[in-house]
Formats: sequence, C-alpha cells, structure tokens
Amino acid sequence: MQSVLEYLAANEARFVEELCTYLRFPSISAQSDHRRDMRACADWLVEHCREMGLKARRHATSGHPLVTASTPRREGRAHFLVYGHYDVQPPDPLDQWHSPPFVPSIRNGAVYARGATDNKGQHFAHLKAVEAYLKTDTELPCDLTFVIEGEEEVGSEGLPGFLKKNRRGLACDAVVVSDTGMPSKKHPALTYALRGVAALEVTVRGPKADLHSGIYGGSVDNPAMVLSQILAQLREKRGRIAVPGFYEDVEQLSAHERRQFKRLPYNERAYKRLLGVPALFGEKGFTPIEQRSARPTLEINGLTSGYQGEGSKTIVPAQASAKITCRLVPNQSPRKITQLLKKHLKEICPSTVRLELEEGHGADPYLVSHTGSGAQAALAALEAAFGREPVILREGGSIPIVTEFKKILGADSLLLGLALPDDNLHSPNEKFDLDCLRGGARMSAHLWPRLSDAC
Ligand code: BES
Ligand code: MN
Repeated sequence: MQSVLEYLAANEARFVEELCTYLRFPSISAQSDHRRDMRACADWLVEHCREMGLKARRHATSGHPLVTASTPRREGRAHFLVYGHYDVQPPDPLDQWHSPPFVPSIRNGAVYARGATDNKGQHFAHLKAVEAYLKTDTELPCDLTFVIEGEEEVGSEGLPGFLKKNRRGLACDAVVVSDTGMPSKKHPALTYALRGVAALEVTVRGPKADLHSGIYGGSVDNPAMVLSQILAQLREKRGRIAVPGFYEDVEQLSAHERRQFKRLPYNERAYKRLLGVPALFGEKGFTPIEQRSARPTLEINGLTSGYQGEGSKTIVPAQASAKITCRLVPNQSPRKITQLLKKHLKEICPSTVRLELEEGHGADPYLVSHTGSGAQAALAALEAAFGREPVILREGGSIPIVTEFKKILGADSLLLGLALPDDNLHSPNEKFDLDCLRGGARMSAHLWPRLSDAC
C-alpha cells in the first residue's frame, strides 16, 4: 500500500494535466451536434485506460457509446464495478464563465471546466488509484471493471440494455460510484440515499399563430398567462406540492435519521451566501438539509413563450411551454407521480386552450444500508484517505442507473462522492478541487483491500 500511496503523491502534477486533457472534450450528451465529440472523448478514455494497463474498449449502445476498462479476471476473487460518466451538462449560460468551459483552468487549487466534478474528475480519481496499483506491481486484492457511460445526464437509456446483455461478465459484489458530494473537505461522506426524478413537459396552445395583442387581445385567452396560472397552482404558499396524491407513498423520516441530519455541518448564513438568495424557501416543518435531500419537490426547469428578443413586441403568443421535474424520495414511483401530475394538470387547465403533456425521463429513488460490511469498509477507507471521521448522508440529486445495478446485477452501490458544495455542478464555473482528486485517489487505493475483506 505504501508504494501505491507514494506513486499517487509523486505523479500528482501529471494526473492534473491528464485530467485537463479529458476535460477539453465537449462531451455534451444532450446536444446532437456533439455526437462526434462524445465518440472522440470515449476513444481518448479507452486509449488512456489501455496506457494504464487496463483492458479497455468502447461499446455501442442505443445512444452514446460507453467505455469499459478492466483488470484481468481471476477465479475466486471479489469483483467490483466502478461506475462513472464522461458526458457533461450543456455549459450555458456561456457569458457567466470566468474561463471557457472546455479550456480547463487551474485557480485556487481547483480545476475549472464543465464536467470537472460531474463527473470526469471523480471517476478519474479511481482510475489513477488503479494505475498506481498496476504501475507499482502491487497486487490488487480484487478484480475491477470500470463502466464509464455517456448518457447519465440524459437519463442513462442505453445502459440497462448493456447491463442485461453482459449480466455474467458484470456480475459483481458491489458497485462503487463517486458522483455525489461531501459537505466539506473535513467531512468525507458516504451517501446512503438519492432522490429519483419524474420529468414532464407541458405545452399550452392557443391561437394558430402569434396575434396582434391590440387587435385581438382581450377576446382570446393568452397561453403564457394560462400556463403561469396553472403552474402557480402546483405549489402551496408554504412549499407543499399541491398535486393530489403526491405525498401518498412518502415514508416518514425517523427521529433517528433526523438526529443524524442535525450532526451535519450547516450554517444558514453561509448557505444563503453560497446560493446568492435573499432568503431560503422550503416545505414547512423540515430543515433545509431535509428539504433538499429527503423531501420530494416539483420544480420548473425552464419556461418558453412569446417574444424574448430586444425591445418589445405586442403579441398574444400562440403557445407557452414549461419543463417540469419532480424529485422523488424512497418509495415514490416516477410513473405514478407522472400520472398524478398529468391528471391534475388536465383537470385545472381551462378549455380556452389545448394542453399537451409529454413525459420525459424518470429515475427511481435509491436507499441502501449504511451499516452493512461494505459500508463499513467504505467509511474506513474515507477516514484513512482524508484523515477525518466520515459522515453519512442523503443526497438530493439522482443517479438513475444505481437502481438498475440492483435490479439487473443484484448489486448495491456504495456512493462515495467527492464534490464540494461550491463545485457548481450544472452551473457556470464548475470546478473540482485538487484536494478532492488527491483524497479521492487515496480513498480508492484504501478501499480495495478493505472492501475485498468485507465481501
Ligand atoms: N452527479 C449528479 C447527481 C448528484 C449530484 C447526486 C450531487 C447527488 C449529489 C448526476 O450527474 C446528475 O446530475 N444526475 C441527474 C440525473 C437526471 C438527469 C435524471 C440529476 O440529478 O439531475
Ligand atoms: Mn450531473
């Protein structure tokens, strides 16, 4: 182990340069004009893994390709998957970046680029730990297979098919995923729950074309107004979601869990400053930590209608649309929530417009034991790597594939996130702290012996 840790320390500068090369690919899965960049990024990753000494290849899926990279399989050894994603969110709004999103820039001990923390930097830490084992001829106590996909940010549609097709080769004792966060560098964390997602796009159509608002306005309904009125009815004043049945399957938080949440570092003023809001808002009766990790929500992600250009344009827009997602907590079902929401929208929409509802992607919520032997091994590795006692927590984000790992491969996921609260995931100026890269690689190095013993 000593030589592995020494290798990691001695090669840090090179790791950062390599990560920057990885971050230069604009691997934006949501945008079809980046198809070639997706493939180029996957090819670079395959080549990089081969240079490290892994057996790597690119696999076609129904969507963007995915990459696997593995150590040789040996009879009787534990086998773990390491999951990550090389696709990134669109970088918009571009004018808010202090350096271009795909020209990595190192400032204040962090690398700034789209995808730095979500998720290239995080799974790169694991790759470098394994490189350290291979290059120092230190025997790995287990077999490892990296599965790095290109569709996480758009719902992971191709991956379940790949898992089913390769069920035998991917059979494993657990999946390790670093794609979540930790409260601070002093609080390395094991995440034991994630929220799910249900997405819906709502379109309200009125007149067949945009109309002169002076000539016709007042005699026809206004789709932008109708949509605003409908959406405004979906949430009560104190933050509760006003869709009948929405909370039906939500399990109550235990007193024990709520006590655990209270132990997490949290400071209201610092949190407000971090987010730049004048005041916090959330469902009554719950703390902000509970609101953003253990309670379901309904959010408007985007609104489109009418004229948005310079100056004014006096029209009644022909249509208005909104992208909506709900975050779901364990025991809620994306299908059921989508149906409840659709039914309710149809009921409250006036007959002066036509309503169109298009279902988007869904992801199940996730909940896993934090007391089992795998979790204990992970906590020990976190402590050894970061020199601090780790915390356990729930996260509000979603990783759609973890429930598929459970369903298809029967494997639990250990969620060992390396993102800091100010890493700007999905926002301008995303970054990954180089201490997290260092700590993450050390954590991975410490994990394999402990996890192999636990299985
Ligand atoms: N890494 C995030 C998920 C995440 C971030 C979980 C922080 C917990 C804490 C992941 O890449 C992501 O953004 N997932 C999407 C999934 C969605 C598109 C189905 C999400 O949560 O919005
Ligand atoms: Mn993401």
